[in-house]
Amino acid sequence: MVKEKHDMELRPNPRTGRYRLISANWKMNFNHLEAIQATQKLSFVLRPADYSYTEISIHPPFTDLRPLQLLIDSDRMRFSLGAQNCHFEPHGAFTGEVSAPMLSRLNVTYVIVGHSERRQHFFETDDIVRAKVEAVFHSQMTPIICVGETFDERQRGETERILQTQVDSAVSFLSPELAERCVVAYEPVWAIGRGASANPDDAQQGAATVRSVFESRWGKAVASKVRIQYGGSVNPANAADFMQLDDVDGLLVGTAALDPESFARIIQA
Ligand code: PGA
Repeated sequence: MVKEKHDMELRPNPRTGRYRLISANWKMNFNHLEAIQATQKLSFVLRPADYSYTEISIHPPFTDLRPLQLLIDSDRMRFSLGAQNCHFEPHGAFTGEVSAPMLSRLNVTYVIVGHSERRQHFFETDDIVRAKVEAVFHSQMTPIICVGETFDERQRGETERILQTQVDSAVSFLSPELAERCVVAYEPVWAIGRGASANPDDAQQGAATVRSVFESRWGKAVASKVRIQYGGSVNPANAADFMQLDDVDGLLVGTAALDPESFARIIQA
């Protein structure tokens, strides 16, 4: 059983029936003291109503997880804890790696898997991503599976094929019960960290392609439950444009999530 930790007051989107999820991917930023400060500040600027509209997950570096777990618990904050990566083996001789069971013990709910920076700089293949998805589910957590085309792939008209291949490879082995619990982040690689996001039409088209992969494998009922985030230069000014899209249920936010005030404005947008 996957941990379903939805806040009692969290309401699904009436239009889609799906729970919204906005996630802060801090990447390699903030030591544990800065992480505590940023989380306290975020909790301070958010209003109670903000939490009933969307679930909020924070994905700090590994060294910040334990302090944030304690902070969230002791102050009864309504954030879900997330990680940015994990290894696919549960334990063993893998110097420098962190496993899914270790994260699960820290009350981590979501694990980002296959972020484009990991695919690019750490050579993660579709097979590795798939193994990590399996490991995350095996430890009762939920993967946020990142997919997206590069600039060159888009120029060559390969966006749809790339998305289909990445998604299908990551999820094809799942049972329908697990498939419908997936979160997929559509992040066009060319829009990440650039200050120039995709336009909403492209984001909707990418998200619809992601959902169609689930539909062709498991049918409409499963596909309609999968949550899809858009990521890539999301900021307070463009967040609402993405959240209104038919197939977009949330956001994966990098740069703008490092400033608690701007992340709060994205949540409130
Ligand atoms: P960005 O990063 O918001 O800085 O573009 C998003 C991501 O990499 O998840």
